[in-house]
Amino acid sequence: MQDLSSAPQQPRLGTRATLPDLRGVELPAVFTTRKARIQDVDGMSCLINEFAAGGIMLARGPLYLYQNIQDYRVITVAVDGIESVIACGGLHVLWEDLAEVRSVAVHPALHRSGLGRILVQDLIEDARRIGTGRVFTFTLAPEFFSSLGFTTVDRDTLSPVVWAECSKCPKFYKCDEVGMMLYF
Ligand SMILES: CC(C)(COP(=O)(O)OP(=O)(O)OC[C@H]1O[C@@H](n2cnc3c(N)ncnc32)[C@H](O)[C@@H]1OP(=O)(O)O)[C@@H](O)C(=O)NCCC(=O)NCCS
Repeated sequence: MQDLSSAPQQPRLGTRATLPDLRGVELPAVFTTRKARIQDVDGMSCLINEFAAGGIMLARGPLYLYQNIQDYRVITVAVDGIESVIACGGLHVLWEDLAEVRSVAVHPALHRSGLGRILVQDLIEDARRIGTGRVFTFTLAPEFFSSLGFTTVDRDTLSPVVWAECSKCPKFYKCDEVGMMLYF
């Protein structure tokens, strides 16, 4: 029988109700994204809702995330033996030539470390592969998206398909987010 006692322990995918404490955690030299899995949902929800509580993102609960899991990418690290989400974001196709980047969130301890950029670049690559000619987002972080090539668009010129999701937002009648588009 195989002796597993000396086998390297792989971090197990886990559920987390709180943001992981990253103090003392070894971070990789290079971060990469992967497609999200069901076990990532609690960590994603926790991360997104950390910012949603401050009114800077739309909250996402488990129901939405399970149903749209195939839209999402995550970056994870092992924390106490659990593979934990430290960044996430989604690409939701809205129409034949239009997809939306949604719910981009990076662990607060890792802002300005390049994770957001890596994540959105991979979501843009997903959009290219799928064949949408444009990607848009509503955001309160326009400098971040303009650094990735997005430009501000007049909200009134946006297709009605974008408003379906907005109608679920508590800020629908008093929206302060900037519409931004990337053409490729
Ligand atoms: C916005 C957010 C996703 C950016 O992720 P990040 O990993 O911190 O960003 P990056 O390190 O990849 O930054 C890439 C570039 O974007 C720009 N940028 C990022 N954050 C910025 C900020 N707060 N102010 C101005 N420019 C910013 C910079 O040009 C930066 O490059 P530089 O660090 O070399 O100057 C992250 O701050 C976050 O999770 N914020 C809370 C949630 C949120 O606002 N999400 C936005 C979508 S709704």
